[in-house]
Amino acid sequence: MATATASRCDIKDPKLAPQGKKRILWADRDMPVLARIRERFEKEKPLAGLKMSACLHVTCETANLIRTLKAGGADMLLCASNPLSTQDDVAASLVHDFDIPTYAVREENKETYYQHIVAALEHGPHVTMDDGADLVSALVFVALDRLDDVEAPVRAWAKKLSPADRQKCISQIIGSMEETTTGVTRLRAMEKDGVLKFPVVAVNDAQTKHFFDNRYGTGQSTIDGIIRATNHLLAGRKVVVCGYGWCGKGVALRARGLGAIVVITEVDPVRALEAAMDGFQVMPIVKAAEIGDVFITVTGNSGVIRREHFAKMKDGAIVCNSGHFDVELELPALKALAEEVTMNVRPQVDEYRLKGNKRICVLGQGRLVNLATAEGHPPSVMDMSFATQALTTEYCIKNKGKLSNTVHPVPVEVEHYIAKHKLESMGIEIDTLTAEQQKYMTGWEQGT
Ligand SMILES: NC(=O)c1ccc[n+]([C@@H]2O[C@H](COP(=O)([O-])OP(=O)(O)OC[C@H]3O[C@@H](n4cnc5c(N)ncnc54)[C@H](O)[C@@H]3O)[C@@H](O)[C@H]2O)c1
Repeated sequence: MATATASRCDIKDPKLAPQGKKRILWADRDMPVLARIRERFEKEKPLAGLKMSACLHVTCETANLIRTLKAGGADMLLCASNPLSTQDDVAASLVHDFDIPTYAVREENKETYYQHIVAALEHGPHVTMDDGADLVSALVFVALDRLDDVEAPVRAWAKKLSPADRQKCISQIIGSMEETTTGVTRLRAMEKDGVLKFPVVAVNDAQTKHFFDNRYGTGQSTIDGIIRATNHLLAGRKVVVCGYGWCGKGVALRARGLGAIVVITEVDPVRALEAAMDGFQVMPIVKAAEIGDVFITVTGNSGVIRREHFAKMKDGAIVCNSGHFDVELELPALKALAEEVTMNVRPQVDEYRLKGNKRICVLGQGRLVNLATAEGHPPSVMDMSFATQALTTEYCIKNKGKLSNTVHPVPVEVEHYIAKHKLESMGIEIDTLTAEQQKYMTGWEQGT
């Protein structure tokens, strides 16, 4: 490790690096599409000369993405996109084995979280990558001179810069990638308000991302997190999934696969109908609250389970969230209802004792349960998401100056490349259109 990197990091314990390296390389075995891109990036260096700051969950899979971007020639810096998702051994290995400045400590407080964002800003990025849009939001607030709206560390950093330097931080950004649904929602709101200052690509919206990562990745890892935290049997239990979007569908499917009786709550009539026709019970949360054994929010919305719902829950109810921010469960309201709170009755399980000796257990402090109590998405699915990230970064650079300051889709060629190579790595062959079929599918003359 270069001494320069050792002085540009904030990690829990450098001694964890050997374990982190083993886990990163284990994940890499199941990320063949990303490995293929890394091999090409090594030779072609499409990102040479670029400074890049990434604000992502610091996991083994992310480490392999960062290695890929670095192989492409980018001068990388990584900070955490969530206070409770960092894998400390991975952060240590990134610094000590892969020479990547990394700012991430599991269970960091809000102040440290934003100090780490400042480190990402100080890097002077030409390209940013977000999972939840916290890095871009900080940049936009600074560009708008809305320093009262940023957290103290960002404010202190911005105040040290001249107005010209502040604008330069923003004007030098070529483009930004966004990993998750909530981030894309925030970016679209920025675009609508006319405050987006550089092009952004909605990586989440690529089919090669949300069809697989949100559905199968969140589906499996959320259930994995609940089981690791509680060691409960799901068979025969009533599992309430709030939100039947891409993530919700995956969580519901996997819970049903384990024998749970799955109840869906929704606010979108089409998705509620889809859930009903997929064979799930659908009802409002106020009714589901009375019957559920396990509650999982995965909506990207706030205040989904509130005081009145906690008050109706059965003794022993398990409550968790797999949506991006920790605002889906109204935990301050639960705390206000509780007569006693016992933290960590098991690791990452907090017990709230309400009147009448009723106990409600919250997993992972209401933060993304799959990352707080398990390891997040398996590498095989992150292979596709992060291959999409790597190729989209290259696309942004190739199109420097040509993209408007709006939210852009991932180019279809990127999606096709990833799907094709993922299938290949899985040993799956598919048919190709014959010339006749091609003609039929693009013509109108042939009918009954
Ligand atoms: N845990 C993870 O690792 C992980 C991975 C990917 C995405 N996410 C996050 O999960 C959340 C959901 O993502 P998605 O891709 O499924 O989004 P989505 O837009 O496909 O689905 C969200 C669904 O929630 C519903 N909803 C909104 N408010 C609701 C409410 N009050 N009650 C019930 N349903 C409500 C919406 O109608 C929608 O159908 C986002 O915050 C996203 O960033 C988490």
